Amino acid sequence: MRDVLPEQARQWHYVENRLLKILLGYAYEEIHLPLLEVTELFSRGVGEATDIVEKEMYNLASRDGESLTLRPEGTAGCVRALQQHGLLFNQTQRVFYAGPMFRYERPQKGRYRQFYQIGAEAFGFTGPDVDVELILMSRDFWRALGVEDHVKLEINTLGSGATRAAYREALVDYLTPLKNELDEASLRRLDNNPIRILDSKVPATQALLNDAPKLPDFIDAESKAHYGELIGLLDEFEVPYRENPGLVRGLDYYTHTVFEWITTSLGAQGTLCGGGRYNGLVELLGGRPTPAAGFSLGLDRVVLLYGAVHVPQRLEGTECDFAAAADVYICVMTPALMVWAMRVADQLRLGLPGLRIRIHAGGGKLKSQLKRADASGAFLAVLVGEQERSKSQVSVKFLREETLQQLLSPEALIELLKNRAIATTAVADGT
Ligand code: HAM
Repeated sequence: MRDVLPEQARQWHYVENRLLKILLGYAYEEIHLPLLEVTELFSRGVGEATDIVEKEMYNLASRDGESLTLRPEGTAGCVRALQQHGLLFNQTQRVFYAGPMFRYERPQKGRYRQFYQIGAEAFGFTGPDVDVELILMSRDFWRALGVEDHVKLEINTLGSGATRAAYREALVDYLTPLKNELDEASLRRLDNNPIRILDSKVPATQALLNDAPKLPDFIDAESKAHYGELIGLLDEFEVPYRENPGLVRGLDYYTHTVFEWITTSLGAQGTLCGGGRYNGLVELLGGRPTPAAGFSLGLDRVVLLYGAVHVPQRLEGTECDFAAAADVYICVMTPALMVWAMRVADQLRLGLPGLRIRIHAGGGKLKSQLKRADASGAFLAVLVGEQERSKSQVSVKFLREETLQQLLSPEALIELLKNRAIATTAVADGT
């Protein structure tokens, strides 16, 4: 579990805000869910035979002996909550959540034991239009972050529950005589979760699968129609995709559509976002049959990708200035001027919301204060001295430019910075 230090947290905040704006733009509603749930929710919901439930959950016993689990994902808890509050029966819901998830995995770049997901779930919709809405929404994420050239969409259909049962049987029949040639993990899966063998990265196992029965041959007509419509809509909206019949996802609840957004710009941990339809989950968790679909995005990875694609930019006065801890640094010439300096800061914060204004604390000479101003990354130093105070003005110095120091009223400074912010925001947005 890692710490996100201020410099990365700034970037994180920016990326997360952009993504949340898109979810809100599709009128998905936020829901806050607990980090701890009873263990059974996940063993039933995610599936006993999945890696997550078999070996990745953080389980703990509560004082009364109940087995609780730090949530490894958000979908099961979301279903639990909506059902418990009577929000699923005879209704439709579109919700999103954001927060940490926990899996005991082997940590490496892009894979952590505490990681952060943003997830969206839609309940009560049968048609592929909602599957496409979810895909378009995630497509908009990449556009908003300017990383659309670094991601690829993969899709597949798993068919209905009956399809999967029939396919599972055929796959086991095919692989059982070849048992000795399977890798260790696949051999274990042959008994408890054979469809996951398709996910194997071991070349010898993949070679064996060449002649195995193919899932598409087992897909029922209804599921084929759903998938056909989905593809038609993706074409209509010009969303490029690759059909990947090996895409089965690591959680057991999926039916029909599954999809993943992958990047090759991050090394091994390239899956940024995954999801699909899970029409059986609500019923499995004790509710009435309710069609549902959703996805979750791994924010840790998306922030890494954003950082890898965009050279850190210095766009003063905008949210994009990740290198800087402050935008404006106020130097206070004598301790007696502190109150006046704080008034000026108040006025600037009110007139320029969003701008990060830091007041120097701890006294010292102007030279050392300016050093601090520079180290903070601020683009502007505001100097508050006796002379300025007597004229109700401040001296301002742009720290990253060859311009002269100017004497201005706080009001005039606000106007000046507003005009500059309009120009720099336009640069940041590419307009
Ligand atoms: P998932 O594929 O297990 O799906 O996780 C979704 C995303 O979370 C992954 O694509 C990845 O970006 C991120 N992620 C997963 N594990 C880690 C990790 N150890 N470190 C960093 N990032 C990670 C689900 O969780 C489903 N609940 C998605 C869903 C929602 N399906 C329907 N609705």
